[in-house]
Amino acid sequence: MKSRKPNSLHIRLYGDKTLRKVAEPVTEFTVEIKNFIDDLVFTMYEKDGVGLAAPQVGRSLRIFVVDPFWFNDESKKDPLVLVNPEFKEFQGEVESDEGCLSLPGIFEPVQRAKRVIIEGLNEKGKKVRYETDGLFAKALQHEYDHLDGILFIDRVPKLKRIFLKKKLHDLQSTTDKNGKNIGELLL
Ligand code: NI
Repeated sequence: MKSRKPNSLHIRLYGDKTLRKVAEPVTEFTVEIKNFIDDLVFTMYEKDGVGLAAPQVGRSLRIFVVDPFWFNDESKKDPLVLVNPEFKEFQGEVESDEGCLSLPGIFEPVQRAKRVIIEGLNEKGKKVRYETDGLFAKALQHEYDHLDGILFIDRVPKLKRIFLKKKLHDLQSTTDKNGKNIGELLL
């Protein structure tokens, strides 16, 4: 079988409408979907992300990829794919800084559950279940939010968000009148 070279996908920035949609479940594991997942993984590493969700590249589908630990040792890339994920349990609370490839330059503390159990399908359509905490749990919650059109700044207290207004406005200006991101941010 011929191996396919993955493509780099364009990351949509804040202001893009796809980021605000509730994404649709995947109903079939076609070759096209498999290729798309490969591209999503490729783009996550290329952009130095710890996670990337389909809506961030303009596809309103319930798919995300994460690899929270590859920064520690780049040779140990271990991407995890979750399709149609569902949280089964949340435990505890923890606050830590978050950032997002769709919101470059913004880092704010966000409250999340400390420990989570998540279930979903992997890239082959097989059922998977993860019970985890720490950075992994945080990444899962952040990426899952993207599937519901939620961005981490929505979880930042209102008073703090006021100070982000200028940055958000600049990011918003990278989208056209239809809410489609038309280019990388020029800063
Ligand atoms: Ni994000």
